[in-house]
Amino acid sequence: MIPPHRRMVEDLAGRGVLSPDWRSAFAAVPRHLFLPDVIADADTGGRVDREVDERGWMEAAYADAAVVTQVDDGARHGPGEPTSSSPAPSAAAEAMRLLRAVPGMRVLEVGTGSGYGAALLSHLLGDDAVVSVEIDFELAERARIRLMSAGFTPLVVGGDGMQGWAGRAPYDRVVSAVAVRRVPYAWVAQSRPGGRILTPWGNAFHHGALADLVVGPRGTAQGRFVGHADCVWARADRAPRRLLETYVRAKPDHAATRIRLGPEDLLDDRDASFAVGLQMPGVYRRVRHTGEAGDPRVYLVDPATGSWASWHAAPRHGESGHEVRQHGPRSLFTELEAARLRWVEAGRPAYTRFGLTVSAEHQLVWLDDEDSVLASSG
Ligand SMILES: C[S@@+](CC[C@H](N)C(=O)[O-])C[C@H]1O[C@@H](n2cnc3c(N)ncnc32)[C@H](O)[C@@H]1O
Repeated sequence: MIPPHRRMVEDLAGRGVLSPDWRSAFAAVPRHLFLPDVIADADTGGRVDREVDERGWMEAAYADAAVVTQVDDGARHGPGEPTSSSPAPSAAAEAMRLLRAVPGMRVLEVGTGSGYGAALLSHLLGDDAVVSVEIDFELAERARIRLMSAGFTPLVVGGDGMQGWAGRAPYDRVVSAVAVRRVPYAWVAQSRPGGRILTPWGNAFHHGALADLVVGPRGTAQGRFVGHADCVWARADRAPRRLLETYVRAKPDHAATRIRLGPEDLLDDRDASFAVGLQMPGVYRRVRHTGEAGDPRVYLVDPATGSWASWHAAPRHGESGHEVRQHGPRSLFTELEAARLRWVEAGRPAYTRFGLTVSAEHQLVWLDDEDSVLASSG
C-alpha cells in the first residue's frame, strides 16, 4: 500500500468503522485507481489535477471526503451539477457495515459510479456474487475497465437500477448508492426472504435518510431509518433543473411578514427536517447566500402549484424576527411552521424512530410501529 492508502485504512480502523473482513477489502482495493485525473471535493469544491499536482491528487484520493466524479451527466457546458460521486471512505465503510454482507451472499449494487464500491464488494464476496447497475453507459464502461485493471470482474450492467437486475436474482442484499423517493418494488421482488435493502431515501424537502429494510416472506420489506447518506438522486427522482429561475419571480407587491423561527431551527436539525419533509414531500428548499453580508436566504418551492416563499435570515434581525415573503396558492411558510410545530408537539421524535414498509401497492412511513402510519404513497 502507498502511504496515503495505508493512512486511510488505519484511520478508518482506528475509528472503529471497519470489521476485520472489511479492513482487508479496504486495504486491498486502491481507491485512487477508480478516480478521474481531476478530482473535486464534494463539500468544498476544491479541485486538484493529477497532471499538475500528483502528490496532492494522491492525498485527495485517500482523504476522508466524497469526491465528485461526474457533473451534468458528462455534458461539457452545464451548471456543474454533480451527477456521480465516490462517497467518503468512512461513508462507504459505514454502508458496508450496515449491509451485513458475508461471503456466500449475492449482492445487487445500484449506481456503479466509479466502481470503487463494486470492487470492495467483489473483494469480500467474489466477482460472481456481485452485480452492479449504472444508468450512465459511459460511466458503466469506464467502471468495467477500472475494475478489470484492479483485478475485479463483477457483472457491471448499463441500465436503470430501479428495475433491479432480474438476471441474477434472488439477492441477499441490495445496496443503493443513489437516493430514491420510493423504494422500487423490483428490489423487494428480487430479494430473498430475510434479505436486506439499504438505500438513501427522501423527498423534495429532505434527502438522504438511510433506510435499512428486511424483506419478509410475504413480499414486503420493512425497516427503519438508521443513518444519513449524502449522495446523488436516482436519475428519475432529481429536482427540476433551474428550479429557482423557473419558479421564483420577485414582485414588489409581495408583503413581508416576520417570523422568529430561524433556518438553524430547521435546516441544521435533521430530525425536524425529516419530519417536515414527510408533511410537505413535494416542496423543495434551496439556500442561497446573498448580499454583502452573505446572509442565508432560504427558498421554498412547490412546482405543482407554482407557490414559493423566501425566508431572509440575518443575525442582525434579532428580536424583530426574520423576513418571510410568500406567493401563490399555498402559503408555504405558514405550512412549514405548522408542520414543525406538529413535530415539536409530538415530542420532537428523532428520524431514527421512523420506519418504512414497502409492498407492491404502496410505501408507508410510520413512527415507532406500523400502527401509526404518517405518510403513504402509491
Ligand atoms: C453516488 S454515485 C455511485 C458511487 C459508487 N458506488 C462508487 O463507489 O463510486 C451514484 C451513481 O448512480 C448512478 N445512477 C443514478 N440513477 C441511477 C439509476 N436509476 N440506476 C442506476 N444508476 C443510477 C449515477 O449515474 C451515479 O454514477
